Amino acid sequence: MCGIVAYAGEKQATSILVDALKRLEYRGYDSSGLAVLTDKGLEVYKTEGQITNLETKLPKIESSCGIGHTRWATQGAPTTINAHPHVSGNIAVVHNGIIENYQELYDELKSEGYKFVSETDTEVLAHLAHMYYKGDLVDAVIKGLKKVRGTYAAAFICGDSKQVVAARKDSPLIVGIGKGENFLASDVTALLKYTRDIVYMHDLEIASMTSDKIDFFDFDGNPVQEHTESIEWNVETAEKSGYPHFMIKEIHEQATSVHDTMMGRISELTGEVMLGEIKLSNEDIMKLDRIEIIACGTSYNAGLLGKYLFEALAGIHADVDISSEFRYANPVLCESTLLVAISQSGETADTIAATKEAKTYNCRTLAITNVVGTTLSREVESIIYTRAGHEIGVAATKTFTSQLIVLYLLAIHFARINKRLDVDRSKRLLVQMKQLPGIIQQILNNKELIKKQAVRFSKARDYFFLGRSLNYPIALEGALKLKEISYIHAEGYAAGELKHGPLALISKDTPVVALATRASTYDKMLNNIKEVKARGAPVMAIACADDTEIQKYVDAVIRVPVTDELLYPVLSSVVLQLLAYYSAEDLGCPIDKPRNLAKSVTVE
Ligand code: G6P
Repeated sequence: MCGIVAYAGEKQATSILVDALKRLEYRGYDSSGLAVLTDKGLEVYKTEGQITNLETKLPKIESSCGIGHTRWATQGAPTTINAHPHVSGNIAVVHNGIIENYQELYDELKSEGYKFVSETDTEVLAHLAHMYYKGDLVDAVIKGLKKVRGTYAAAFICGDSKQVVAARKDSPLIVGIGKGENFLASDVTALLKYTRDIVYMHDLEIASMTSDKIDFFDFDGNPVQEHTESIEWNVETAEKSGYPHFMIKEIHEQATSVHDTMMGRISELTGEVMLGEIKLSNEDIMKLDRIEIIACGTSYNAGLLGKYLFEALAGIHADVDISSEFRYANPVLCESTLLVAISQSGETADTIAATKEAKTYNCRTLAITNVVGTTLSREVESIIYTRAGHEIGVAATKTFTSQLIVLYLLAIHFARINKRLDVDRSKRLLVQMKQLPGIIQQILNNKELIKKQAVRFSKARDYFFLGRSLNYPIALEGALKLKEISYIHAEGYAAGELKHGPLALISKDTPVVALATRASTYDKMLNNIKEVKARGAPVMAIACADDTEIQKYVDAVIRVPVTDELLYPVLSSVVLQLLAYYSAEDLGCPIDKPRNLAKSVTVE
């Protein structure tokens, strides 16, 4: 995930910026850079790879004001040219976030004569500020950003004065107040060594920072009063934004990550999904008669929901295979098959090998991944990035829900082209999707209830997760999450399979989680709940907020807000992540680094 730092003071800016950037390394990055003001004016240095590469490149320079960045690519490969800062004339900018109307602004700036050198959306910010700069950087930034749709934390400097101007919308940015020096960063961790007096900037707020002064403004240029807070956190707590583990931090980030995945890709007004990154024409899509999904672990569970969506919405037959099985099977693929490889890391050895194997059949290929520039991305024709941000906890959480979102988008896109989904239904679905971030936040606000249930059953030896149709993949994912981090044995089952074996294991000692949100199979699910209750199992149901029936049959209900029937898997996933997390926490497990597991499995 990208990181921003900035400094204005009397000390050597380059060494402070480099040191502060290193403190953001834990967030993950693929390139870095900085821009400083020297006697010669604006100087910019950037490189691919480690921050030490940047250090090696830096000459001895005198400077007391500058901005720095670690980039985690989301648009454009992780190259030196794409690294930040981006420059226009004597203005430089570093940016975290996504510019939704990039293409529109790009076209406009091009017609004004601006030349683009990178593949990033950020470059438009530099040109916009340059276009409006008439000697007042605050004014130029405000005018430029008023044209931008999207999310940003951005810091600008101009060769004319020792001033940093910063702005934020939906992406964190903090100001650090020192004595005769001031700082700016996207993350408090970068600044703890220098100051503990912090101002958290608000959305649509501008900061103007020099060595001895910080002023805040709204987007109309009116002054805004801000309060300074004193931070007590140590570095370890700060890296986790105050949460005890990365996993719970990342669970909480899902309201934002799900929003970022959808940003610029949905028009609820027209009912269309815009996926310009896929290299399949409408004719190509209409010719597809089969989708083959390959993935491992959590990504495989996302793929199972993908199968359901491709078939139910787009009417395209879909299969899902575990990559390690697929690579040694005898797959039947042809030019009218689309291979969809799902991998958050893009480096899973089995998924890469399976993709290579599939390519020998001349099928079309597409990857859904979270990391730009990985081995998998080089193997496929089209890539859709999930934009969930860097995930540190070994157990995948926010990358999973973002994978689900991409699968919804892809299925709706195919369904529209195949004329299987009318405009009204599509609009309704997309409107509901746009509301998911807020709904996820409501679930997170109710986490104490989930924690209570987790603690109640954390001493269980075995757990069962039951679901039907589109809830079945989520039952599998719920069980996987619990196993991974709490070491409680857990099985996910298609509820209709109960009678074919697992019912023999159900007793008063086996808690059952029943995914009973609204679906065409709801009544069948109630029957399955009755079956396990009759064997004495304590049952915890995940159900809709307006379900007045379910509490008659179960021991506890965790309710999720009402949404479109198709979207409940996203909501149930968040509930089950919290259930797994609090179970593991109660048992004192090493949640972020479970035994024997790795975040990315790069060997067979
Ligand atoms: C490992 C991780 C899992 C992940 C799986 C697939 O087992 O621990 O969380 O789901 O790899 O990884 P990928 O990066 O391909 O999604």
